[in-house]
Amino acid sequence: MQQIKTWEEYKSAYLLSTAEPEKFWAAVADNFEWQKKWDSVLQWNFTEPSVKWFEGAVSNITQNCLDRHTETSPDAISIIWEPNNPNEASQKISYRELLHSVNQFCNALSKIGVRKGDRVCIYLPMIPEAAIAMLACARMGAVHSVVFAGFSSASVADRINDSGCSFIITADAFYRGEKKVELKKIVDEALTQAPTIKHCVVFNHRSEQITMQPQRDVWWHEITKNCSNNFLPEPMNAEDPLFILYTSGSTGKPKGLLHTTAGYMVYTAFTFLNVFNYQNGEVFFCTADVGWVTGHSYLLYGALLNGATTVMFEGIPTYPDHGRFWDIVDKHQVNILYTAPTAIRSLETYGIKIFENKKLTSLRVLGSVGEPINEEAWHWYHTHVGKNKCDIVDTWWQTETGGILISPIATVTPLKPAFATLPLPGVQPVLVDESGNEIQGNNVAGNLCIKFPWPGMARTVYGNHERFRQTYFSTYSNLYFTGDGCRRDDDGYYRITGRVDDVINVSGHRIGTGEVENAIDEHPLVIESAVVGYPHDVKGQALYAFVICTEKISDVEKLVAEVREVVAQKIGSFAKPDKIQVVPGLPKTRSGKIMRRILRKVAERDTSNLGDTTTLLDPAVVDAILAGSK
Ligand code: WTA
Repeated sequence: MQQIKTWEEYKSAYLLSTAEPEKFWAAVADNFEWQKKWDSVLQWNFTEPSVKWFEGAVSNITQNCLDRHTETSPDAISIIWEPNNPNEASQKISYRELLHSVNQFCNALSKIGVRKGDRVCIYLPMIPEAAIAMLACARMGAVHSVVFAGFSSASVADRINDSGCSFIITADAFYRGEKKVELKKIVDEALTQAPTIKHCVVFNHRSEQITMQPQRDVWWHEITKNCSNNFLPEPMNAEDPLFILYTSGSTGKPKGLLHTTAGYMVYTAFTFLNVFNYQNGEVFFCTADVGWVTGHSYLLYGALLNGATTVMFEGIPTYPDHGRFWDIVDKHQVNILYTAPTAIRSLETYGIKIFENKKLTSLRVLGSVGEPINEEAWHWYHTHVGKNKCDIVDTWWQTETGGILISPIATVTPLKPAFATLPLPGVQPVLVDESGNEIQGNNVAGNLCIKFPWPGMARTVYGNHERFRQTYFSTYSNLYFTGDGCRRDDDGYYRITGRVDDVINVSGHRIGTGEVENAIDEHPLVIESAVVGYPHDVKGQALYAFVICTEKISDVEKLVAEVREVVAQKIGSFAKPDKIQVVPGLPKTRSGKIMRRILRKVAERDTSNLGDTTTLLDPAVVDAILAGSK
């Protein structure tokens, strides 16, 4: 695939991609192996909405991830696995070995009844088997639905039920730092509420004592025993589903975004190659978990499509000490590091002694993703990690977009700290005002929308196309609405300012306030709650919950601990609010709507001007909240 290497090339690629998008993407798509080429490049409308890329084409993404590279360079390393415990051995898996493992697992899954179109839930730690399981599903045409291994049993069950998964793949247990996570136990609990599951495949990762339910549960190593290394990739139509990935929105339960085959393949490969300026033979280290979209699109698919070596790290940046990322970079000679601002900010607090005896000379490109990166963190990353010689690509995108939309192209785009800079070829961003008018010109701010389809975009919310339309295509006519606010500066550079809806970005995890409220309301003593975000030095944002209780609470600390526990059980520990305040009432309008604006101000400790409170049903409630604020 042609790589954009100069500013001039970027500009001409961008021009072509907007003037003749079909020609542009057809040329990119020509670089893949197709079992049959497309009849039409693009058919679309944003009203239904309906978006179809490469209709008529037949391919399998794993043929392009695995077989292709196995033919040309079978011994090249596909995955380097770095365990949680640095004293245990890391693994290097060649492309040929990965292909064989995937094929074996395809045969094993076939044996237990997995068929094309079946939904398969994957609930695994960051181990090579997570990649093998995802690729095996893709190869046989089953739709994977990966659930981050930090979610609770209730969340696992909800996701299984929403997409009707008939299989789940998990492990006995794993360690995240020093903390043991007993995955199989969580799955056992989830499966009491998830009747569609026929089989649970268990990978023996830590030889922990677990109970296997006869008939339902099967060991990974037993079902793969004697399975052949060969498995023909299923011919997949361009718009056949590839995977479902759940993400939080401002209302209701999480949405299962559906991504399809050909467009996603073309888009993740193209953006990986260009944004990171990937060079043959380089080692790419993405610290995101495969349970999130970054893990899907760049740790796995984008990297493998380009024949890259991708590092998969099981642990956390602070274990066994705060130098772990740098040790991994030096040990595996990482060239491209892709991480989140929250990790950068948390390491920043330990001072530069965490770089003692670390070389970091292999690094060439640094990436940032998941939330806005503040200037200070940007400079720290640039100076101490990149030694002032690595470009930082601040990549803006979403689970819904499948791949990066706005980002510098490493070595090409002139950088500006805290700016995602410019749209990639094929991406047409617009800023709109509240009434949906496009805001022209520079030095302006508005809501970020995209006005033309790109190949990697999600096609629907699984099982609920109306919700897809409503959420993304109904706010402004003929535009995809991102939910983010954005500024465009005098140079036409984009700076994402954060969500404009009720989605809170805590340490790069997307959390819907409604979900947390629903969880808190399950506590028997809670009548109602309201959750808002407030700025947090390390996490970016943190959650502040206001709760109304049924009776006067004598032991507030106990209640707070219980409320946090309910959230951990209903969603996962990462969604626990940092602050919980018991309040006598919530600021509501006469029509019963909670005025979150006021709660946000309280949470932000910015109470000098609370704005107009006269429309409140009971303005006195605000004083009571202020008096008890944390
Ligand atoms: C935010 C993660 C600023 C944004 C890939 C978006 C960012 C949400 C950036 C999507 C960035 C992501 N700068 N904000 N570079 N990247 N975001 O679905 O609010 O987990 O809407 O996808 O993260 O989060 P998601």
